[in-house]
Amino acid sequence: MQHITTLIFATNNEHKVQEIRKVIGSRFNIITLKEAGIDIDIPEPHDTLEANATEKSKTIHQLTKQNCFSEDTGLEVEALNGEPGVKSARYAGGTRNFQDNIDKLLIHLKGKENRNAQFRTVISLILNNKEYLFDGVCKGKIIEDQKGIQGFGYDPVFIPDGSEKTFAEMSMEEKNIFSHRRKATDKLIAFLNTLTP
Ligand code: IMP
Repeated sequence: MQHITTLIFATNNEHKVQEIRKVIGSRFNIITLKEAGIDIDIPEPHDTLEANATEKSKTIHQLTKQNCFSEDTGLEVEALNGEPGVKSARYAGGTRNFQDNIDKLLIHLKGKENRNAQFRTVISLILNNKEYLFDGVCKGKIIEDQKGIQGFGYDPVFIPDGSEKTFAEMSMEEKNIFSHRRKATDKLIAFLNTLTP
């Protein structure tokens, strides 16, 4: 099938690229920053997922003048008043170390009965110089001891509602059944499909 729309995905996170490519399939051609020859660490300076997603897509759009999208995701934990939220990547400090972030989260939740949490993804699409936002939420629980080795980030401590496994115990296909990123991507695809029937 011919590719109808080509979009640059403004991320350096290979896991995100693979997850989104699996959902989008071959109807839309997704190009990574690396494939576009862009080597920058895109800033995430804002205090909302929406503003960070916009910052990332606008940065890449200004550089390339091409249609592109970005996403920003946060883990929002009920007993921590929504933290780490927009700070999820740097929760334990500037090094963005996944294990340090998990360790800090588990320490903060030690002894807490309320383990409710949700991942929230915001996608910012820039198409023909106009911005469109899409979001996706996955509710679940934070467990006490991490399990599984798949995925990335907080996957080893998050069990989505409707499953007994952590995201890190799932294949990418299984994770995509539940995932925040897939739900936001579904909305992106539905929107793109209205433009390119
Ligand atoms: P970003 O700022 O959107 O790149 O993501 C913030 C942080 O949230 C990442 O560094 C990960 O630690 C975490 N994160 C984002 N998406 C996921 C996911 O699907 N599973 C687990 N952790 C995630």
